[in-house]
Amino acid sequence: MKDNMKKKLKLKVSAIKDGTVIDHIPAKNLFKVISILGLDKIENQITFGTNLESHKLGGKAIIKVTDKFFKDYEINKIALIAPYAKLNIIKDYEVVEKRIVETPKTINEIVKCFNPKCITNNEKIKTSFKVVSNDPLSLKCKYCEKITSEERIQMY
Ligand code: CTP
Ligand code: ZN
Repeated sequence: MKDNMKKKLKLKVSAIKDGTVIDHIPAKNLFKVISILGLDKIENQITFGTNLESHKLGGKAIIKVTDKFFKDYEINKIALIAPYAKLNIIKDYEVVEKRIVETPKTINEIVKCFNPKCITNNEKIKTSFKVVSNDPLSLKCKYCEKITSEERIQMY
């Protein structure tokens, strides 16, 4: 693709001065990412684009959050649904740092245990899983020890 064409595609969502750009989110998981990061509850300016072209993901989404710099543990929460996400830290219009997400060793609260008899599905106890493998994703429940696999994953 020609360079000027590439630029045009990128400028579909305008540049920000300071903040974080989360790129390479699978388009189908954009709203889950927004919810997991709590972006629906903050007052920062947020812009996003979705169904943008991406060779790797089919359709990708991008989120730009002004004046927000995430902690690693916050970002790693999205690893389950956006494993190839890339973060760009922007200061004074320049990309000063790029980071990738890493799958955490434990996942708390976000995912439901698939076992209907599990205590987390019957009492007010938050889920906690050990990540046994991340590709394909496999999570072991701390309470019932059953494995919740990728096809069965449900988020709260
Ligand atoms: N970006 C932004 N505001 C800025 C600078 C960059 O919103 N002031 C966005 C760009 O639109 C792009 C992302 O941050 O989506 C990364 O910018 P850059 O590193 O310039 O783009 P690429 O070279 O395409 O990076 P990569 O190949 O890692 O996606
Ligand atoms: Zn369980």
